[in-house]
Amino acid sequence: MSQQELHIHPVERTWIIIGIVMLVVFAGAVFISGFGYGFQLPAPAAIVNPALVATPGATSFGEAGVKELSPGNYEVRILAQTWLFTPKEITIKAGSKVTFYFTSKDVQHGVHIDGTNVNLMILPGQISRLSHTFAEPGEYVFVCHEFCGVGHQTMFGKIIVEP
Ligand code: CUA
Repeated sequence: MSQQELHIHPVERTWIIIGIVMLVVFAGAVFISGFGYGFQLPAPAAIVNPALVATPGATSFGEAGVKELSPGNYEVRILAQTWLFTPKEITIKAGSKVTFYFTSKDVQHGVHIDGTNVNLMILPGQISRLSHTFAEPGEYVFVCHEFCGVGHQTMFGKIIVEP
């Protein structure tokens, strides 16, 4: 029995190589954005009862607001509802690491914090978590970016980062 060589057309071979190179490039882009630039996927941190989420102590969401865990390390819980964020304004010190917890008590909302990678969907029944370090002082506006009704465009807030 003679061995047969597998014959690949040169054009096909070229495209197989291009395909493999592209996969390597894309995998590289994922690693660089994840480990080099610190991009994170917003993971659901917990499940919560949206009917009780505004009641202090009733759910794992706890009270909305800013909590300083240690100097320069904050936990911020923000509750979304039609059509406001609670709290609407928070103040922290520059250089602080902030872990945000968002949830909604009614419909689907979203949030993007200007000038940061923080960009999440806010779903009733789910707590979304994401961390960010605010190196530069300034005012960072955040807006709801999921259409949530007639007052959607009035739904925003502000993070004041003090020097
Ligand atoms: Cu909330 Cu749009």
